[in-house]
Amino acid sequence: QDEIYLNGLGGVMPRFPMSSAELEARAEAVLPPSVWSYVAGGAGDERTQRANVTAFDRWGLIPRTFVGAAERDLSVELFGMTLPSPVLMAPVGVIGLCAQDGHGDLATARAAARTGVPLIASTLSVDPMEQVAAELGDTPGLFQLYTPTDRDLAESLVRRAETAGFKGIVVTLDTWITGWRPRDLATSNFPQLRGHCLANYTSDPVFRAQLERTPQEDPQAAVLRWAQVFGNPLTWADLPWLRSLTDLPLIVKGICHPEDVRRAKDGGVDGIYCSNHGGRQANGGLPALDVLPAVVKAADGLPVLFDSGIRSGADIIKAIALGATAVGIGRPYAYGLALGGTDGVVHVLRTLLAEADLIMAVDGYPTLEQLTPEALQRVA
Ligand code: FNR
Repeated sequence: QDEIYLNGLGGVMPRFPMSSAELEARAEAVLPPSVWSYVAGGAGDERTQRANVTAFDRWGLIPRTFVGAAERDLSVELFGMTLPSPVLMAPVGVIGLCAQDGHGDLATARAAARTGVPLIASTLSVDPMEQVAAELGDTPGLFQLYTPTDRDLAESLVRRAETAGFKGIVVTLDTWITGWRPRDLATSNFPQLRGHCLANYTSDPVFRAQLERTPQEDPQAAVLRWAQVFGNPLTWADLPWLRSLTDLPLIVKGICHPEDVRRAKDGGVDGIYCSNHGGRQANGGLPALDVLPAVVKAADGLPVLFDSGIRSGADIIKAIALGATAVGIGRPYAYGLALGGTDGVVHVLRTLLAEADLIMAVDGYPTLEQLTPEALQRVA
């Protein structure tokens, strides 16, 4: 933040928006309408998506004084890694298409390298995971798996993620089928956008071998027909198999119910990822923030990642105080990417972190451990 203030003194205006609302408005202006509606849109009339954001308004942090919080420590231990802050980039499929050159997965990975903010790389990328991993520098990445029906293919994707150096596997459970998304239905653009983002499947040796058996088939159609990426309803019976795929930390994403937390924990997962997919999958649900405390309680010490609705540094602080070990940033970094490639993502991450850091300074909570539910009060 010093840099931005000092630039301001010198009359240099920031290159990118300083508010979430302006970030969104400017991203809408530069993105092709089909990509904008895909990224910004959600399920149904998007009430849950909006409620994810406004849920943060119902909590307030209680300032402490005479703390002298001149130094803050935002670092966090997660899955054996020490991260500079409790913030990761959530997996965003089609992020590739948010960059002007169509290679946003790589640009995002470069932003991870520059900021130290880990990237959870989506299965649905324009560029294969190996190329994404190669751009991460010293910053850790995790690989998010959309599990195909073919187990050999799923296994191959996990093996490749391990070989590429990813530090964990995040299995997304809430998107085995695409939700009711009126904006995408209105523009009929989803199949086309998704078609650009199947590189991880179409480059896979197991998939290539299958394709050789049906050489006349279009690769994109083959992914959807044969691997059934969007049509694989996993059940608890599949968890032992998922667990057996890797020794890397296994995290399950899309968990909102405490009973599911307990079952996942019993199944040997290493982390719970509490999320409602940014309200993109099902309308009419509770805001993700409202289910977080019960998820944390049931996790009983297991790390809990959280996303859905984080738009500011204050939101990061509140989610941590409610028990999240770390949080995922979703749409905001996609908008930053649209506005300025790697620089735009770096700007979004740095401004979120600068605000979180200053709140900890001003409100007298110099470490994350001090951010507990007692630091918050429910507003209404
Ligand atoms: C997502 N999300 C997502 N999640 C996932 O596990 N795999 C994926 O490929 C995607 N793809 C995706 C695309 C787009 C355009 C968006 C906006 C989101 C969900 C994402 O990881 C995260 O849960 C939400 O973005 C959080 O909500 P907010 O904060 O963006 O509203």
